[in-house]
Amino acid sequence: MSDGRYLTFALGKGRLARQTMELFEKIGIGCREMWDKDSRKLIFVNEEQRLRFFLSKGPDVPTYVEYGAADIGVVGRDTILEENRNVYEVLDLGFGKCRMCVCGPESAGELLRHHERIRVASKYPNIAKEYFYNKKHQTVDIIKLNGSVELGPLVELSDVIVDIVETGSTLRENGLMVLEEVCPLSARMIVNPVSMQMKSERIKELVNKIRAYPEQESKE
Ligand code: PRP
Repeated sequence: MSDGRYLTFALGKGRLARQTMELFEKIGIGCREMWDKDSRKLIFVNEEQRLRFFLSKGPDVPTYVEYGAADIGVVGRDTILEENRNVYEVLDLGFGKCRMCVCGPESAGELLRHHERIRVASKYPNIAKEYFYNKKHQTVDIIKLNGSVELGPLVELSDVIVDIVETGSTLRENGLMVLEEVCPLSARMIVNPVSMQMKSERIKELVNKIRAYPEQESKE
């Protein structure tokens, strides 16, 4: 378990971490050292406020939180759904908004409509499985990829993909389109169930501070 004196945060590396740090700075928490891009340091401590922060790969954030290595995590809803860990989701942070979609060439629309046994490439096999098997009751073959998933239909690895669409420009530039929407996504705050009880005052205070932050809801 994480040290009881500290509130420990796991942040997914990349865009979300920067936006989270900006938000934390606005509500008066954080650690200046974290802004140093050249630093290879992994853990940042704010002794005065008894806070610790570490950066990890996005998909590992729910793992750290489930096991209590971090009390709190900030990660995209895509990762939460894919990892399906035992954590509480306490807050929609309102930034990192995008959509999980089934995408492909226009011609694949017909295959979807007729519930054909198609090939689906995705970085998110669990989300794809949940959507096709449990929601659409369609049998499909799911192929796990680790990135640049749009290649799937282009090189005929798959008929469609299940992937994140933000601006839509990756799809447009590759002659693909959104065929179905799976769900909306954004950055979420997750909490370890034991921390939720043991550190409830500190966590509630943090959540209230973020909720009260006036620009929060309209922020992209
Ligand atoms: C994500 C996603 C899409 C793209 C969508 O990929 O997987 O490829 O962004 O954004 P857009 O709609 O604004 O074009 P990311 O850049 O994270 O890299 P990846 O392909 O390696 O997963």
